Amino acid sequence: MKRALITGITGQDGSYLAEFLLQKEYAVFGMVRRSSTENLSRIKHLLGRITLFQGDLLDQPSLISPLREVQPDEVYNLAAQSFVPTSWEQPIATTQYTALGVARLLETIRLECPHARFYQASSSEMFGKAAEVPQNERTPFYPRSPYGVAKTYGHWATVSYRESHHLFACSGILFNHESPRRGKDFVSRKVTDAVARIARGLATELRLGNLEARRDWGYAGDYVEAMWLMLQQDSPDDYVIATGETHSVRELVEIAFAAAGLDWKQYVVVDPTLLRPAEVELLQGDYTKARRQLGWKPTVSFRDLIEMMVKADLEQYQRSAKSEAA
Ligand code: NAP
Ligand code: GDD
Repeated sequence: MKRALITGITGQDGSYLAEFLLQKEYAVFGMVRRSSTENLSRIKHLLGRITLFQGDLLDQPSLISPLREVQPDEVYNLAAQSFVPTSWEQPIATTQYTALGVARLLETIRLECPHARFYQASSSEMFGKAAEVPQNERTPFYPRSPYGVAKTYGHWATVSYRESHHLFACSGILFNHESPRRGKDFVSRKVTDAVARIARGLATELRLGNLEARRDWGYAGDYVEAMWLMLQQDSPDDYVIATGETHSVRELVEIAFAAAGLDWKQYVVVDPTLLRPAEVELLQGDYTKARRQLGWKPTVSFRDLIEMMVKADLEQYQRSAKSEAA
């Protein structure tokens, strides 16, 4: 039985990856940081089938014992401060988690389990003010936020440990990926949650920032398979994972409201306070390398993804209304 350790297992991707690896009959271990209230909602259906350790990327000693005890075959580093706007409000904390956290983990792997294969959750935010469209593994990085800068550090730390210490270390440059489990701060879920609340009579407007920004949005369930595939290759490498399509926030909003039979123009208010100090205007990934070398491709279209999320949020508010009425 292969053993995998996931940091960030309580997050969107961590929950899908844990499910995916359990299906592949892995023994799955997750690192969870302490909080005053339990924060396991995305993985509660997996409890009993996975083993959780307390650990924090800020605290190197807490990384040592899980790695020493588990001796994982594969380590997936998904933990990060992942919300871009917060990275301007908390640039130092973001650097600590999202950049130096990678160095702490890589160094601990080097010392405790150097044969473990390592996956780093890198990001299309590293392309930032992108030098070309679409972006591939050779496109230069030009990060625009403290988050993007921190992820760029994590990417190069991964490459450096691969080249200097010969770790089997891969960096997945993943474009935006969403699901019904997405945090409600991110634009896709913010929109689908608001659509459901408006449809159920619980809200009357949705305040958004830049409607013209364009992203390459895919489905998180597809993207965790790509993470795993990277670690099954003969040699470590870096891969862009994307759909190859780009859509604006405006298109996302139109599809989401229409999915509930609503006209978005009646509800959406553009709020200048939600504009970012420096925007990433256009992301579109070229996943040719992943398709050729990993045999990976996305399976869920943009429209199906947004409609899936609206449906899930509508159902959730319907369930809450029923349980309140009962
Ligand atoms: P997410 O839902 O925000 O999850 C982040 C995870 O990191 C949570 O489990 C969180 O734990 C954990 N974490 C944060 N700080 C930590 C610390 N100091 N020590 C230990 N754990 C910590 O993010 P996601 O969407 O699943 O993304 C997973 C990874 O992929 C992130 O690194 C993200 O930056 C990267 N990424 C995401 C996308 C995307 O579109 N989703 C695209 C490219 C790259 P708590 O539950 O305790 O907060
Ligand atoms: N969050 C948010 N809220 N974004 C908004 C809003 C709003 O009210 N209005 C417009 N947007 C625009 C943002 O300006 C951005 O251009 C776009 O919607 C997407 O924003 P997010 O969903 O917050 O995602 P992100 O692209 O900044 O970052 C996500 O993707 C990265 C990969 O490219 C995160 O998951 C990162 O962790 C990830 O690395």
